[in-house]
Amino acid sequence: NAGGSLYDRIGPDALSALVTRFYGRVAQDPLLAPIFPADLTLTAEKQLAFLTGFLGGPPLYHERFGHPRLRARHLPFEITPERARAWLACMQGALRDTPQIGADEARELYEALSRVAVHMVNSDPASG
Ligand code: HEM
Repeated sequence: NAGGSLYDRIGPDALSALVTRFYGRVAQDPLLAPIFPADLTLTAEKQLAFLTGFLGGPPLYHERFGHPRLRARHLPFEITPERARAWLACMQGALRDTPQIGADEARELYEALSRVAVHMVNSDPASG
């Protein structure tokens, strides 16, 4: 169904598997783990709800938590360009580990997230 949303093409089960693998990698990442809570259960639930709406599925995040205000919500954390690259590398790895997501969908998802990740950077030692 090439005309469907990215959410429809990926499907809820594969998306959920992706988010689980993503946070499994975040928890092991030396740059990222220190800024995340030790228990990533709620973080993963929120991310799955957010991505569901972001990719064209039901607006679960909005329904449960209100407007995401993503950049503002990330301001308490020091997000350097290096951390943004680490975040995207975790996503790339999680996509590789989730073969039920097709290559086209994986590429589109990764490109969309790359664009958002740039806007989360709020600290850049190189420009200080
Ligand atoms: C929450 C880091 C990019 C979506 C968080 C939290 C951290 C974080 C530390 C708080 C976790 C918690 O307290 O539960 C980062 C870093 C990024 C990044 C280092 C690198 C650029 C992104 C991107 C998206 C995103 C690109 C969107 C696709 C979210 C969502 C939450 C969240 C939905 C939960 C917000 C809430 O508390 O309701 N992120 N993030 N993040 N992040 Fe990111």
